[in-house]
Amino acid sequence: MVETDAQAVGIIAQRVESARASHDYCASHSYGEGRQYHPYMPSCCRSGVCGEIFNEKFARKTLRRYRKKGLDPIERGMVHSVAAAERNGGRVLEIGGGIGAIQAELIVAGADRGEVVELLSAYEPYAREVARDKHIEDRTTFRVADLLEEPSAVAPANVVVLNRVVCCTPDGVRLTALAARLASRVVLLSYPRDRLVVRAVMKLMNAAMRVLGRSFRVFLHPTSALFAAARDEGFQTAETGRTFVWEYTTLRRGVPVRE
Ligand SMILES: C[S@@+](CC[C@H](N)C(=O)[O-])C[C@H]1O[C@@H](n2cnc3c(N)ncnc32)[C@H](O)[C@@H]1O
Repeated sequence: MVETDAQAVGIIAQRVESARASHDYCASHSYGEGRQYHPYMPSCCRSGVCGEIFNEKFARKTLRRYRKKGLDPIERGMVHSVAAAERNGGRVLEIGGGIGAIQAELIVAGADRGEVVELLSAYEPYAREVARDKHIEDRTTFRVADLLEEPSAVAPANVVVLNRVVCCTPDGVRLTALAARLASRVVLLSYPRDRLVVRAVMKLMNAAMRVLGRSFRVFLHPTSALFAAARDEGFQTAETGRTFVWEYTTLRRGVPVRE
């Protein structure tokens, strides 16, 4: 409990200092030469930074919305773009998967098993709820890990999903390359569209984060850089779909497979 104004000021100062330290740590550990980031979106999204936004309350709301409305149009497009031959009997890996709705839907559609890899444990109970709802508890797992730190800890999969993840990290291009390396057939990638209104909103979001003393920032990576990272791993772009703000692209290894 805070007893005096001086104590309250001390606590606030500590929090600001800790947010600043986290930002400095991320800035010094996450920027590399030749990365193509928009200059107004510095910082990184590792567990502490992401946890500022994607906390327990956020995870609970995500589950509530999914139970009420199901997948959104972008997620539906991603799921439907995977051919039966690509998913049936296979393994799905959802990186930064949150409650793991896409891997759950792909299991229900015919995949054998799935895994969610998340920086944040806050999502775990809600991912379990999704698995219970879909009766796939014994076919899906949730792992707390930073894929950028320990890529070899994660087993390859037939289908790898990166839904709304690359925009949360300055390492979105590297994350896409790692996702492609882990995928034997398909990579499902979604990201914000590069258009004036989206750039303006993201800029405003980052300004608000700065004012609030948060370290979290959003990033708009050029799709050319994201696709090149996947292409270097043997993938080519196939289907794509978009809404006003978001876009997805399905990437396939080698020659596209059709049902
Ligand atoms: C905007 S949320 C999206 C969650 C979910 N895919 C969805 O669309 O509801 C981005 C998620 O990516 C996760 N993430 C970011 N970088 C990651 C990394 N290096 N390894 C694992 N997860 C990561 C964050 O923890 C966060 O939950």
